[in-house]
Parts: sequence; C-alpha cells; structure tokens
Amino acid sequence: MQRLDGKILSEKLRAKLREGVEQLQAEYGFVPGLAVVLLGEDPASQVYVRNKGRQCVEAGMQSFEHVLPASVTQKDLLELISKLNADDQVDGILVQLPLPSHLDSNTVLQAIDPDKDVDGFHPMNVGKLASGLPGYVPCTPLGCLKLLQHYIGDVKGKYAVVVGRSNIVGKPMAQLLLQQDCTVTIAHSKTRNLPELCQSADILVAAIGKPLFIKGDWIKPGAIVLDVGINRITDTDGKHKLVGDVDFQAASAHASAVTPVPGGIGPMTIACLLLNTFQAAINRRGLAA
Ligand code: GUN
Repeated sequence: MQRLDGKILSEKLRAKLREGVEQLQAEYGFVPGLAVVLLGEDPASQVYVRNKGRQCVEAGMQSFEHVLPASVTQKDLLELISKLNADDQVDGILVQLPLPSHLDSNTVLQAIDPDKDVDGFHPMNVGKLASGLPGYVPCTPLGCLKLLQHYIGDVKGKYAVVVGRSNIVGKPMAQLLLQQDCTVTIAHSKTRNLPELCQSADILVAAIGKPLFIKGDWIKPGAIVLDVGINRITDTDGKHKLVGDVDFQAASAHASAVTPVPGGIGPMTIACLLLNTFQAAINRRGLAA
C-alpha cells in the first residue's frame, strides 16, 4: 500500500514557489500578496488562517490578515472586500468559510474580484471550471489532483466516486476528475447503497466531514483513496486526535494507495492556495508564468 504523502509533496511545491517569488522580486520588483479575512473566533478556522499566513510569508509572499468580529455587518464586510479588490498589493482574497449565519455567503463571494478569487468560489471561476476554461480552481480539489498526478500519474478511464457534494470540494473535484477522463459519480448523504457504490470505485474521494465514516470493506481491492476529512475526535483514553472520513488502517488493507490524515490533503490545500495567489499575481500583471 502506497501512502500518498501530502506533507512531502507540499514542501516541494512550496520550495519551488519560493524560487518563483524570488525571481519575480528580482525581475519585476514585487511579491504576490494574499489577504485572508476571518470572522469570529472559531478555533479551527483560527488555526487554518494562522497556517496560511505563516506559509505565505515562508514562501516570500505578503500576508494580510483581517480579523473581524463575528457580529460584523454584511455592509462592513462588503466594504472591506471592495477595499481589498482595489488594493494593488493584494493579488488574492480569501474569506474563510463558513460565515456567521446572518451573512449571505453567495453575496459575499460574488463581491470578490474574480481575478483575485484564489479560492475559486466566485460563479465566474465555477463556470470556467465547468466549461474547461482557465480560471482559479478551489484549493482542496486542486491539491487532490496534484497528489494523484504526482504519485499515480494517468487516471484516464478510471471510475471515480466522490462522496460529498459541497461547492468547496465535492462538485469541483468531480469536474477535475472528469477533465482527467475519469468516469465520475457524485454521492452524498441521500445516496442509496453507498457502501456498494464505493466498492465499485477505482478512485474514492471522501469529503463528508464525518470521522471514520468510510469502512475498510467499502473499498475495492487496489483502489486509490483520497481522504479530505479532518475531524477532531476524543480517543477512548481521553486524548484528542485528528482522523479522516476514512478508517486509514482498515482502508490500507484493501487500497493500493491512501492519503493519511493528517499529512495528506490538508497541506496540499494550503500549497495550492499559495500557487493560485502566485498565478493571480502574474496574471493580473500580464506576465507569463
Ligand atoms: N473553509 C474550509 N475550507 C475552505 C477553503 O478552502 N476556503 C475557504 N475560504 N474557507 C474554507
């Protein structure tokens, strides 16, 4: 069984990116900038935002963090986004989701300049992905694709089952796999006979958000398993630990390749966010990569 190590691959990607950033600075005198907007004090979101900021700076890019109270009005948030849209030092804008329930995430995401939408959540970029046009692709599915391409190679003709239909992961993941000539099914909480469906998958992507939901015997012998879930659970001995949506140990007995949690998809997501920001900086200035 091959362990699809996202920590190692993301470190390689970020090292290469750092060189690219140094080159931009030497040749053109600027570095890409990423603005991250965090509302409220959700501990998991705070950890993600801190990691994003740190890795941005480590790659030689600028990080702008905007932490607003969870009670912020939609008007104030839209005003901040409009300032970031107009700020030439900002190449990428990310508003950490989920938003507090009094805010309308569609309105907020549509306010972001599509050319700075490094999360790929603006309908313009969603539409480009669906049409096969170049645009910004959501970071988690892009990280999954890069892992597949690096460790597995060609996936043409494989049958992929994506469990989860979110705009952040499931739907864009299905689009990317389709572009790679996979045959794709999107499954979700209302899907009938889910274990049997999973058993037919050559590539199984788990993006459900339920700890250890997918069991070992749901996995076809020799399948490739990408586990997008990051769930914090309390062990029988009272210790906290992070687990995926898939039971890694059990899956390892059936699959040919599995991503670990932590150290699989998670680090790839942040690396892809930085890659998208680098690309946005280049595109906005009309430079070639
Ligand atoms: N919340 C969970 N994943 C993501 C992501 O990729 N982008 C943003 N903006 N929020 C998230």
